[in-house]
Amino acid sequence: MIVVSNRIPTGESVSGGLVVALHDTLGCAGGIWIGAHPEPGIGEETLDELGLTPYRRLAFRLTEEEQKNYYLGYANSVLWPLCHRRGDLVEMRPEYGAAYQAVNARVARMVGKIARHDDLIWVHDYHFLPLAKEMRALGLANRIGFFLHVPFPALGDLSVLSQPERFADDLAHYNLIGLQTRSDVARCLEMFRADPRAEFMPDGGIKFLDRITAVRSFPIGIDTAGFAEDAAQEAVNPFGRGDPGRFLIGVDRLDYSKGLPNRFRAFARYLENRPAGSRPCLVQIAPPTRQQVRAYQDITRELEEIAGHVNGTFAELDWTPIRYIHRSVPRVELARLYRKASVGLVTSFADGMNLVAKEYVAAQDPKNPGVLLLSRFAGAAEDMTDALQINPYDVEDVATAISTALDMPLEERQRRHASCLDVVGRTDVTIWSTAFLRALMTCIPSMTFPGFE
Ligand code: ADP
Ligand code: G6P
Repeated sequence: MIVVSNRIPTGESVSGGLVVALHDTLGCAGGIWIGAHPEPGIGEETLDELGLTPYRRLAFRLTEEEQKNYYLGYANSVLWPLCHRRGDLVEMRPEYGAAYQAVNARVARMVGKIARHDDLIWVHDYHFLPLAKEMRALGLANRIGFFLHVPFPALGDLSVLSQPERFADDLAHYNLIGLQTRSDVARCLEMFRADPRAEFMPDGGIKFLDRITAVRSFPIGIDTAGFAEDAAQEAVNPFGRGDPGRFLIGVDRLDYSKGLPNRFRAFARYLENRPAGSRPCLVQIAPPTRQQVRAYQDITRELEEIAGHVNGTFAELDWTPIRYIHRSVPRVELARLYRKASVGLVTSFADGMNLVAKEYVAAQDPKNPGVLLLSRFAGAAEDMTDALQINPYDVEDVATAISTALDMPLEERQRRHASCLDVVGRTDVTIWSTAFLRALMTCIPSMTFPGFE
């Protein structure tokens, strides 16, 4: 198996759902993982072998221009906001699209050089939508699957692109298109239905010009048992001597899609009305991400202002309401933090799945579990119907839910947790990858590509 994604683990503690899930998958299955080297290059067509792991890691180098125009530009200033319903943040420049195509073509050539004819190729995320098309143009007839970790855009939102018709065409070069949720599948099918080049076949496949593709949902998950084990390790006290007592936890990359300002506002609203003597703390771990993009600089500044304001308003000499930490935390420590937290907060305005929701549930002590507050706009909400679902746009609703969660009787906490844990167990990362790869191996092969065997 050859896996391709832009992000690849390079040593430091990782944040981001894709890397966490693929690291767990390849750790079990083995294979080759190709991704971007953290250091820039000069546009060379060679892959560097990175250090030893249970799987092979091969890295291509982006030039500084490509990092700016393909990664920060087309991937994170066009496709990311588009998929997260933030058309207002899309920044379109001709050099972005050109670099995106060029990087995809170059990576296709590098994959083409190492792929054997029977390798399965599994491409991940919006950085590489046209990769299969580029590989097909080189004559690769392998089975190629694609998994989109972020929400599938609505048909209307695709019009934001300069050439919206390319989106469906690029995707149709994959044998299998994997999406997070049933709603994502519905949006993807809507796109194909609206496209005169696509035809629906009786078995559910889609014939697109001379190609056949399939679309299915594969909800991504975590290493549930491993995470629960880490969480239960009594030896680690993540707070050392600075234990905050009763606390709520949020763990997110510092991204505008995560609804962090409203989370802080809702916590402040809760503090205004809290019962006398109650002094809970919100521990927010938010490592900065994509900081060269303006929208990320803005959200970082906005959050600092809100946190400063909330702490200035409510703090006492021996109590800081919001503890706001900007760095990555080792996974064992993170697991322990989740377990100690009375409430886990997920307030995304749009989110492919949200692994944090699953990690929080897996880390709980089933005898005395905390409560997950889960945005109804996170993919995880589709199946985790017994989480306390909230509308992150409605600050009052979130504040009320915080109060409900902190006061929730043990029996109800246990019931909700058992139901959520059942979902987390059924959508484990191994089940996710096995289901995807099995579907890729059994779906209609690339014989539909004329000329290729
Ligand atoms: P996204 O993929 O948008 O970042 P997810 O919630 O799906 O969102 O995945 C985030 C992953 O990154 C989770 O596995 C989470 O534990 C991890 N993560 C986020 N922030 C940190 C952090 N500060 N330290 C360590 N891991 C983090
Ligand atoms: C999300 C995306 C991934 C991305 C991750 C971290 O999970 O789906 O593709 O790797 O965020 O973002 P970054 O830009 O730092 O790779």
